[in-house]
Amino acid sequence: MRVLVACEYSGIVRDCFASLGHDAMSCDLLPTESDGPHYQGNVIDIINLGWDLMIAHPPCTYLSVSGMHWTVRGLRDPQLTEDALNFVRSLMDAPIKRICIENPVSIISSRIRKSDQVIHPYQFGHDASKSTCLWLKNLPLLRPTQFVEPLGTWKDLDQKGVLITALLVGSIVEGVDYGTDDIELEIDQLDEEPEAFNKRFYAAVDEVEAQALSIWNDTHGCDVCQAHWVEEGFGDGTLDGAVPVWKDCPDCQGHGTVI
Ligand SMILES: C[S@@+](CC[C@H](N)C(=O)[O-])C[C@H]1O[C@@H](n2cnc3c(N)ncnc32)[C@H](O)[C@@H]1O
Repeated sequence: MRVLVACEYSGIVRDCFASLGHDAMSCDLLPTESDGPHYQGNVIDIINLGWDLMIAHPPCTYLSVSGMHWTVRGLRDPQLTEDALNFVRSLMDAPIKRICIENPVSIISSRIRKSDQVIHPYQFGHDASKSTCLWLKNLPLLRPTQFVEPLGTWKDLDQKGVLITALLVGSIVEGVDYGTDDIELEIDQLDEEPEAFNKRFYAAVDEVEAQALSIWNDTHGCDVCQAHWVEEGFGDGTLDGAVPVWKDCPDCQGHGTVI
């Protein structure tokens, strides 16, 4: 297969495909760190060259949930996030039969589409726990190859003699002076397997995210949203003093605005 590994300068994924007999090339704005077929430049320049498979690792700086607080606090130009999303869209829409896009937990899920799979390094022989999302086109889900004990988890801490009995999962919502409810997760360190705890933890995170989104949608409407509600006959267009987001708003596109 002709494999394009986009946004890769290390050559690691490229060399894995090459070692399996594929015609693989990496591409990055940076030069490659290890000798091998590499295009140094914009991947968009070469995306139409008839690849059978593309694996892409686009930059997450302006997309990852952990970095978005800079943007929503107004400390970073929101256009950077829009540009990063448009780059991901160009990768997803590339005329390539099989595509895998990799990114941490990011707003790609809420702004473009939910990922198809979330994996962790500890499912593949590395002792790290990091939610890594995959957006797949015509590709099967990755199958874990080797489970190892992730470092820094409750089990690891337990071995160091630190007893953790519960975790609180919750979130603030920017611009309003209240946040989601806290969900308390009791931890049964002696009997529960890490995978089972992870499942409960991410179910709680999903619940918090859904609640945070609902609060955002109730409170972060823009001026055009407000004018719409006034036109619809809802008084001054506010609800409990806040403007709800109009999902068809031509101005904020139904995403609301930072307040
Ligand atoms: C998160 S890093 C991925 C690194 C990769 N995992 C590796 O092992 O090399 C994202 C990379 O995307 C590259 N990049 C950003 N925009 C690009 C573009 N338009 N075309 C090609 N590469 C791009 C950056 O230079 C950066 O090295």
